[in-house]
Parts: sequence; structure tokens; C-alpha cells
Amino acid sequence: MIASHLLAYYFTELHHDKVQQVDKFLYHLRLSDENLIDVSERFRREMDKGLGRDSNPTAAVKMLPTFVRSTPDGTEKGDFLALDLGGTNFRVLLVKVSDNGKQKVEMENQIYAITEELMRGSGEELFDHIAECLANFLEKLGIKNQKLPLGFTFSFPCQQTKLDESILVSWTKGFKSHGVEGRDVVSLLRKAIIKRGDFDIDIVSVINDTVGTMMTCGYDDHHCEIGLIVGTGTNACYMEEMRHLELVEGDEGRMCVNMEWGAFGDDGALDDLRTDFDQEIDAGSLNPGKQLFEKMISGMYMGELVRLILVKMAKEDMVFQGHTTPDLVTNGQLQTSFVSAIENDKDQEGLVSAEKMLRGLGLDPSVEDCVATRRVCQVVSTRAAHLCAATLAAVLRQIRDNKAAERLRTTIGVDGSVYKNHPQFARRLHKMVRRLVPDCDVRFLRSEDGSGKGAAMVTAVAFRLAIQHAE
Ligand code: GLC
Repeated sequence: MIASHLLAYYFTELHHDKVQQVDKFLYHLRLSDENLIDVSERFRREMDKGLGRDSNPTAAVKMLPTFVRSTPDGTEKGDFLALDLGGTNFRVLLVKVSDNGKQKVEMENQIYAITEELMRGSGEELFDHIAECLANFLEKLGIKNQKLPLGFTFSFPCQQTKLDESILVSWTKGFKSHGVEGRDVVSLLRKAIIKRGDFDIDIVSVINDTVGTMMTCGYDDHHCEIGLIVGTGTNACYMEEMRHLELVEGDEGRMCVNMEWGAFGDDGALDDLRTDFDQEIDAGSLNPGKQLFEKMISGMYMGELVRLILVKMAKEDMVFQGHTTPDLVTNGQLQTSFVSAIENDKDQEGLVSAEKMLRGLGLDPSVEDCVATRRVCQVVSTRAAHLCAATLAAVLRQIRDNKAAERLRTTIGVDGSVYKNHPQFARRLHKMVRRLVPDCDVRFLRSEDGSGKGAAMVTAVAFRLAIQHAE
């Protein structure tokens, strides 16, 4: 009995020492409250810069107008198609909105693969493939002869002048297909459909996934005025006063702004906080020098950050008895889903996952190695959650000031694989937001399929407004 107590004590001590050692090594990744308040203030200035007509051209955070001005009012109805490109999967959806009494939304959806070759090949091939998937979907549902309205969730930075024109500014995340940047994605899709000639659709709107998320949550909660994504990429949108949107004519009412906050830091604004690991991630990415904030946070990079740190620790003889393996030193071998599994708090499940993952990489880890790996995951994902909290705090302050309210009560619609699948991320994010803006009552609402349903909702609202105008 005594022996087992001693053993347990010994292990706890050992864990504690290892954790401290990792913490010391990762000192620059551990941000203090002061750091976060500072990041929040810097971001608020970036928002202003992006909103201003004269400062926008040189702003890193583009604050893109979306031409979405109203949220659903519950009277929308009809059948809508939606396309969702830019998240974990590419999908085609049929969304049926009916309003007999209480509005109801039903969906059919189909996931289609987009190979890496397609993501990085020619734009024409990419859009031909999208049109082909649409044709397949319509065929399967037996609705190829109907001309349905379609909403396109295209989750990349786009310059819009109206709801159905959307010029790609630059690819982000894993995409790099050529001949699309600087072009209107609606025209590209229309062209691909006309070329086939076997069906016709009415492309009504293009939206960002953040906007879709805000719209779907706005449907259930009328206080929802922010949409947040922490998935493959990270970004947010919010309802801004028209009078602050200097890029759009008119001063009345509000419009949703797609902030594209992933680009925060692209002008050097975060250089003092970026570590050697962040620089390494950037240098090895598809878009060096771009989306620097996103690369510190989102699912496309989180696992890779952990891997780079482990490699460096191995080289410094802190883990794995100084050994590395070919898999450990290979790009992309440590997916973010492992980070989620390793941070599972339940019993020792996280440590078991750590061991499994490390063995999968060809290593022969000790208990201490597993403890160290879990700590690296915690530090990386906590920094991600706290950085998101800092930028969200800036958005909350902006909205509160717009309303000249002492206390703001608001709802944030959220989606994305990191937010939804990581066992600690959401809790850490919520806690830090509340600490940074104690004078706001914030409700976080998980969106159920914001990208798919959201595109249909925006389309449904546009459709309703078009009908009202025509009458
Ligand atoms: C990237 C895209 C942005 C999108 C986000 C989340 O940051 O540029 O448009 O909202 O990923 O998917």
C-alpha cells in the first residue's frame, strides 16, 4: 500500500517536473493576460484600418463587405441548393425551407472528394468538377430539370460588390488552383455549367462560412450578430454599422463584414509574438507570408506546430532519448485530430492516445515522453484559444461601442472542427473572452451545419426580398 502511494507520488512528481521543463522550453508560446489585452487592442486598430476607405488598401485585415443586410425573419420558404467549398469537405446540399406554422428546415447532402491535384491544379478543372458533382447530385435526387436557386458557401477572402458576384482575393488553407484569383467565382461556375449544358440553376448568392454560421444561429437567436469559425482555417464576421463601412455607399442600417482575421499579422503586427515554430510553419506552407494569425491557430496547422516542437525537443535531447524517426520529421504526419485525442482529460485516455500516436510515428516513448507530448499539445492549443479570445474581445468592444451600451448582451454563432472536436478548446476560449470583456454577456451558440444551411438561408432571404420588391 505504502509502496503504491510512493510510486504514485513519484510519478506525479515526475510529471510535474516534465511539465515544468516543457513550459520553460515553450515560454514564448505562453501568453500572459497583458499580452492578450495588447493583441486585442492591436486588432481593434486593424479593424479600423480595414474599414476606412483610405487605409483599406494597405490594411492586412480586409474587413470585406458581404452585402448581407438582413437575417432571416421566419417567413422564407422554398427549395434551395447549396454548395460548400473550403472546409474539411466539399458538399452539395438540397435545403427545403417550409413555413407552415413554424419554419422548418430539411436537408439532403452529399460529400464529394476534392483531390489535392484538383485543389492545386487549374481553376477550370476545379469548377468543371464542381459542376459535375452538382449534376450528379441533381440526377440522384431526380431534380435535374428544375431551375433551383443556389447559394454558394465559398470560404475564402472575396471582394463583393453584390450578393452574386464574388472576386477571389487570394486562396488560403490548402487551395492554390491557378487562374481563379482576381476572377468572379460565380462567372466561373456559370461557365462550367453552361459548358456541360445538361442542367440550369440560378446562382443567387455567394457567402463566407462565417456568414453562414451567423445566419443559421441568427435564425434561432435574434441576438446573434457574430459568426466564428475555428476549423481548417479561422475567421469571423459581425454586423457593422453602415456608417462605419466607408467602402460601401449609404449610412443606414447594418451590413455583415467578413473580417478575414486570419490575415492579422501579415503586415508584421504580430512579429514580436511569433516564435521560430510559427516562422517554420509559414515557410513550409502553400502561402508564405500570408494568413499568419490563422497559422498560429487553426486546424490545418495545429498538429504541425506540435510536430515541429517535438522534433526540436528531440534534437535537444528533451524527449525520445534524443531520437527522431523519418515519420516524426515528415511534414503533415501529425494531424490536429491527434491533438484533440491527446488532450482528452478522461482518466488516462489522453496519455494512452499520446503513446499510440508516438508509436505510430515509429517512436518508443517513455511515460515521461507521453506527458511531455501532452503538455506541448496543451500549450499550443491554449495559445490558439486565447488568441481567438483576444480578437473576439476586440469585436465585442466594437459592437458595444456602436450601440453605446454599457453592457452588451450578444450571441456568437460558432462552427469548425477545432471548436467542435477539441475537448478543451471551447471552454478555454469562453473563459478567456469573459475575462477580457467582463462587461459583455456573451452566449456561444454552436451552429448546426452553418455552411450548408447558411448559404440556403441567405439565398432564401434574398429570394424573399426580391419577391417583395417585384410585388
Ligand atoms: C480562411 C478563409 C476564410 C474562412 C476561414 C474559415 O481563413 O480565408 O474565408 O472563413 O478560413 O474557413
